[in-house]
Amino acid sequence: MKVRLAGVERRFGPMQALAPVSLDIADGEFIAIVGPSGCGKSTLLRMVAGLLPASAGVLEAGGRAVTAPVTELGIVFQQPVLLDWRDALGNVLFQVEMRGQRPGPWRERALALLDQVGLKDFARSYPHALSGGMRQRVAIARALVHEPGLLLMDEPFGALDALTREQMRIDLEAIWLRRRMTVLFVTHSVDEAVLLADRVVVMSPRPGRVEQVLTIGLPRPRGLGARRAPEFLRAEEAITSIFLERGVLSRADA
Ligand SMILES: Nc1ncnc2c1ncn2[C@@H]1O[C@H](COP(=O)(O)OP(=O)(O)O)[C@@H](O)[C@H]1O
Ligand SMILES: [Mg+2]
Repeated sequence: MKVRLAGVERRFGPMQALAPVSLDIADGEFIAIVGPSGCGKSTLLRMVAGLLPASAGVLEAGGRAVTAPVTELGIVFQQPVLLDWRDALGNVLFQVEMRGQRPGPWRERALALLDQVGLKDFARSYPHALSGGMRQRVAIARALVHEPGLLLMDEPFGALDALTREQMRIDLEAIWLRRRMTVLFVTHSVDEAVLLADRVVVMSPRPGRVEQVLTIGLPRPRGLGARRAPEFLRAEEAITSIFLERGVLSRADA
C-alpha cells in the first residue's frame, strides 16, 4: 500500500508535537523512522492509521485520504497485549473475529503464520506460558493474518533482550521478503533501522521534523555480517552525526 504525507503536522493544544512532515512511501517499501523519545513518532503512526486526525496537511493511504481508521492494516506495539484466556492461535484469530468474520476459514492461514514467526509448536500455548519474544511473535502473526497491505510497528522489539531482538529482526525481514507489505517501523535503535529499512527517516527532537531520509542499499537478507558492510557503517555514522548535531547524543571522546 502506498502512503503519502504532504505537510502533515500535529498540535496538542499550543504544543507542536510534529512539525510538517512530507514523505512518499512506495507500495512494498520498508521504512524505518528513528528519532529520540518524544519527537512524535507514535503520533505520526497513529495519524497514518487514522486513529488520530492531523492538525494540517494531506495524508493518503492506498490512494485515499485517511479520514477514519484504516482497516487494511496491521499494528504491532511495544507490548503485545494478548488475551490471557486465549491460546496463541485464538489470539491470532481474534483479529478476524473483530472484523466480524468467522474464524474457521482463517485457521489454516493463522497456523501457517504462527509457523512463519517460529511458533509452530506453540499454537495451543497460552500467553502465560510464552516468553516475551514469543508473545511479540504472536502479536506479529495477529497483525498479519488478514494480509494487510500496510504494517505499522511502534518500537515492537523495544522490550526484548538483545539476542531475542536480533533474531526477531532477522525473522521480520524474512516475513517481509515473502509478503512485501509496506512497513513503517518506529525505533530508537539506529542499528535496527539501518539493518531493516529500504529508507531510514531520521527525526529531530520535539517538535519532530524529518532531518534526513537515507536510502539503504544493503543486499538482503541482511544477516549478522551486514554490520561489517561499508554501507552499514556509512549509514550508521551519518545518522549518529545528525543526532550529535542535534544534541540527542553527546560524545565522550570529543
Ligand atoms: N494525546 C496527547 N495529548 C497531549 N500531548 C500528547 C499526546 N500524545 C502525545 N503527546 C505529546 O506529543 C509529543 C510526541 O509524542 P509521541 O508521538 O508519543 O513521541 P514518540 O513516540 O516519538 O516518543 C510528546 O511531547 C507527547 O507528550
Ligand atoms: Mg512512541
